Parts: sequence; structure tokens; C-alpha cells
Amino acid sequence: MQEKNITIQYQNFDNISDLPSQMQMLIQEARAAQQNSYAPYSKFNVGAALLLDNNKTVQGSNQENASYPIGLCAERTAISACVALYPNEKINAIAIVANSQTTEVKFPVAPCGICRQVLLETESKQKSDIQILLHGNDGSTFVFKSIKDLLPLHFDAEYL
Ligand code: THU
Repeated sequence: MQEKNITIQYQNFDNISDLPSQMQMLIQEARAAQQNSYAPYSKFNVGAALLLDNNKTVQGSNQENASYPIGLCAERTAISACVALYPNEKINAIAIVANSQTTEVKFPVAPCGICRQVLLETESKQKSDIQILLHGNDGSTFVFKSIKDLLPLHFDAEYL
């Protein structure tokens, strides 16, 4: 038996002003996207913004439904919008913000497993990494260079 470890690396910026201006702008876009969140059931509002290779941005927000399981996360809403609007454009970064109407959400919120898997597929389809920025209401931002860092030992097309 061998004990094995998986280590992931990410950067933690305490203050948004420490980030490059393009990334600060992307977080503001995610905040704007959050305004369009439709979350009457969870009361948990999520916003996401994508930075494309052509420097355009695409927003997405969570869209819930009375049939709970069919609700969509902000990340996947943004990716679907991106494919519809700019089918051939690479995504270089995604910024994600979240807030709750019922509890205090201080720290950066990480994407759910399904969204990680979708981001992984998007990276593999476009053959380049997507930088992940998780921005918290405490002002801090976690930056990952690829979704692979948030999804070690992932399942992908290599197995098929
Ligand atoms: N949610 C997202 O939009 N993104 C995530 O990665 C985590 C969860 C949404 C789904 C649901 O509308 C609400 O947050 C509570 O789970």
C-alpha cells in the first residue's frame, strides 16, 4: 500500500485592487450578472462572467425552477450563452460571485461538481485552460489556473 497525496495550488488575493484590472472588471461583470439571478427557492444568488479570447465578456446567473432539480447554475448558464453567442471563441477566465438572502456568505464560493465537470469539458474542447476566479464578499479572491485544479482525478473522454 502506498499513501498518495494530491496537492492543488491557487492564489489568494486579499483585496480586489491587487488583481489585474481586467480581472477586477470581470468580477464586476459577475456582480452585474448576479442581479439577474432568479433564486426564489434557495435565495442564493450566483453570478458568473466569462472573459473570451476576443476580450468580450458573457454573463450568467442561476435560474431556478419550481421543479427544483432543473434549475441551472450561473456557470452553466454563462457557458451556454457563450456557445450561443460566440461558438468559436475560447474562454480564458470565469469569475464567480455569490450571496445569500438568508445567511452571510463571507468567503469565495466554489463551483458545484456538475459545473466543474462542464468547465472541464469546455477546457478539453477548446484545448486551453480557463482561469477560475472565486470572489468572496470579504473582498478576497481565490485564483486557480485551470478547472483541473478543482477537479483532480476527473472523469473525461480518455476513459471512453
Ligand atoms: N449555484 C450556482 O449557481 N453555482 C454553483 O456552482 C453552486 C450553486 C446555485 C444553484 C442554486 O440555484 C443555488 O445556487 C443554491 O444551490
